[in-house]
Amino acid sequence: MLIIANWKAYVEEAAQAKKLYATAKRLASASKHELVLAPPAPLLSLLSAKNRSRVAFSAQDVSASTGGAATGENTAAAYAAAGASYAIVGHSERRAMGETDATIALKLRHALAEGMTPVLCVGERERDLEGHYLSFVRAEITAALERLEPKERAQVVLAYEPIWAIGKTAADAINPNDLAEMVLYLRKVLAELLPGKNPAKTRILYGGSVEPEGARDLAGGTGVDGFLVGHASVDPKTFSNLVRAVL
Ligand code: 13P
Repeated sequence: MLIIANWKAYVEEAAQAKKLYATAKRLASASKHELVLAPPAPLLSLLSAKNRSRVAFSAQDVSASTGGAATGENTAAAYAAAGASYAIVGHSERRAMGETDATIALKLRHALAEGMTPVLCVGERERDLEGHYLSFVRAEITAALERLEPKERAQVVLAYEPIWAIGKTAADAINPNDLAEMVLYLRKVLAELLPGKNPAKTRILYGGSVEPEGARDLAGGTGVDGFLVGHASVDPKTFSNLVRAVL
């Protein structure tokens, strides 16, 4: 399983970042899971500079610009130089700040150009009985991927993060049956956009109140390839329990 710890802006101190990194290193050496940490940008290189472990690093976002006169921007190239091999793109918390489909596609491109694996986030605000949320998610995926070359599309990791499930507790996360259904649907959408056998190979993650309680049920039999974890990833004990709960 691919487990990405999205620290968001929860972690603001070097000491906490180092502690979480040490925990991730221990977990990575003791499990088969692929662990990726997504710290706030200024803390990333502090951890990645001397990284010799199986832990990988991710940007939480990359700039839509590729450098030059753009004060305050963190470009994909700068992240790659700092040791990030993944880049979260299109997170709902960025979309809420006005990020458009075109910007998201651009960011995916920049991440790919730097040899990073982009993690495209999609997810509906709420579920309706008529199933409009399905076409909403389809539109988000299509808008982002259709602007890429078919070869590039195959390199993107897809993270399904329904907004209604973010930042709550395990009881509010999606239930395993609904997740299994959604993963099937996402593979169907991917099949329309990716050539050959690639749709089956794309890694699909789930995010939204993944906590130690419930993680095993969400992992088993639902077809997901991993998780994008927010608040449960910023406490060493909780994160350890979560990773150990996922078989
Ligand atoms: P929570 O795990 O805090 O719900 O956040 C999910 C998320 O947004 C990860 O990117």
